[in-house]
Amino acid sequence: MDGVARPPAPADHLPQSVEVDRRAVSEDESRRANGPEWDRYADEYQATHGEFLGDIGFVWGPEGLTEAAAGALGEVAGRRVLEVGSGAGQCSRWVTHRGGTGIGVDLSLRQLQHSRRIDEETAVQVPSTQATATALPFRDATFDVVFSSFGALQFVADLDLAVAEVARVLRPGGRFAFSITHPTRWSFPDDPGPDGLVASQSYWDRTPYVETDPGTGTVTYVEHHRTLGDWVGLLAQHRFHLVDLLEPEWPEGHERVWGGWSATRGRLTPGTALFVADLLP
Ligand SMILES: C[S@@+](CC[C@H](N)C(=O)[O-])C[C@H]1O[C@@H](n2cnc3c(N)ncnc32)[C@H](O)[C@@H]1O
Repeated sequence: MDGVARPPAPADHLPQSVEVDRRAVSEDESRRANGPEWDRYADEYQATHGEFLGDIGFVWGPEGLTEAAAGALGEVAGRRVLEVGSGAGQCSRWVTHRGGTGIGVDLSLRQLQHSRRIDEETAVQVPSTQATATALPFRDATFDVVFSSFGALQFVADLDLAVAEVARVLRPGGRFAFSITHPTRWSFPDDPGPDGLVASQSYWDRTPYVETDPGTGTVTYVEHHRTLGDWVGLLAQHRFHLVDLLEPEWPEGHERVWGGWSATRGRLTPGTALFVADLLP
C-alpha cells in the first residue's frame, strides 16, 4: 500500500527523471503502466513493509487497523474469499489460516513471486493468479467474499467495470470490503510532514495523476481519484448495499511513516477509507 496517493508528490519524493502530470488516461494505459511499476517496486515494498504487514497478517492500511479488530469481512471460516490486488498475499494467508479459502489476483508477477516465497516459508498457501481487476478470471457467483486492501481499485481507470466484475464473481448476498486512500487526501500534497496538511488542489477534480518517463514518453505510473460520493453511487449502481464506512483513527503512540501517512497528518485527518458492502440477493 505504498506507491499510492502520490498526488501531488513533492519533486524530491519522486523517482529521478519522471514527469508528473494530470491528464486523462485509458484503462489500457493505466494497466500497462502500473503492472511494470509494481514489478519494479515489489522487492523494496516487501523489504520495507513486509514485517508490518506480517506474513500471515491482515492490516487494512498504514494506521494498522487489523481485520481481527475491524471484522469487515464477517466470518471467513468455510468461505471462498477473493483478494483483488493481493500483492504477496499476506491478507489472504490470514483468511486461510482462519479457516477460509483465500485466493489472490494481482497484476504484478513480481508481487506474486513474493507471495509464492511466503507460501513456502509459512506453509500456508494462497493460490494466486496474474490478472487485472477489470477482467477477473473466475465464473459468476464463485465467491462469498471479495476484498481489497489498498489493492487495485485506485489504479484502474474503468472503475465501473472493476466493480461490475466484483459483483459478477460474488454470490448474491456476498460481502465486498475494500480500503483505499481516503478520498479527502487528494486535496493535499503527499507529504507526511506539516506541508501535507495544507490543501492545494480540488477534491472534486478527478483528473488522474500520471507519471511519465520523459526519455521514452512511456507512462510509468497512474493513480485515479473518486470522491466519497462517487464510491457510494457506484456501489449502489451495482446493487451493493453499503453496510459501513470505516475511517481508522491514527493510534496513540504509532509513529511509523508510510509514504504520505504519518502521525503528524493521521492525528488530524483520515488517511484510509474502508468500505463494507453486501451484494443484494
Ligand atoms: C499497495 S499494493 C497492496 C497489496 C496488498 N494488498 C498489501 O496490502 O500489501 C497494491 C497492489 O495492487 C496491484 N494492482 C495494481 N493495479 C492492479 C490491477 N489493475 N489489477 C490487479 N492488481 C493490481 C499491485 O500490483 C499491487 O500488488
